[in-house]
Amino acid sequence: MADDQKNPDDEVLCYCSGTRRGQIRELFLGGRDMDGISRWTGALSGCGGCEWDIGVYLEELAQATEAAASASAATDVAASCGGSAKDDVASQCGESPSSNNR
Ligand code: FES
Repeated sequence: MADDQKNPDDEVLCYCSGTRRGQIRELFLGGRDMDGISRWTGALSGCGGCEWDIGVYLEELAQATEAAASASAATDVAASCGGSAKDDVASQCGESPSSNNR
């Protein structure tokens, strides 16, 4: 398999423990923080050289999770107002962004 066809989940982020990106994502989605991931996998318990990469990846996951939650909430509001798209929430509810300034 060519390098560009590798599964990103198989990327090793901690070489001391062999912890892979996919393992970290699954543990994060299961509610574990960096300490929990370290205890579960052994990552960060060797040389510590992976701390930056794992920290950045956890931030990316947190931001993606937050964005997905916001999009879901907007979709729920739109659906309750009879709309279906995030951008149409205000118009579907019969409001405009400036309506609060009256
Ligand atoms: S690379 Fe993760 S502890 Fe060494």
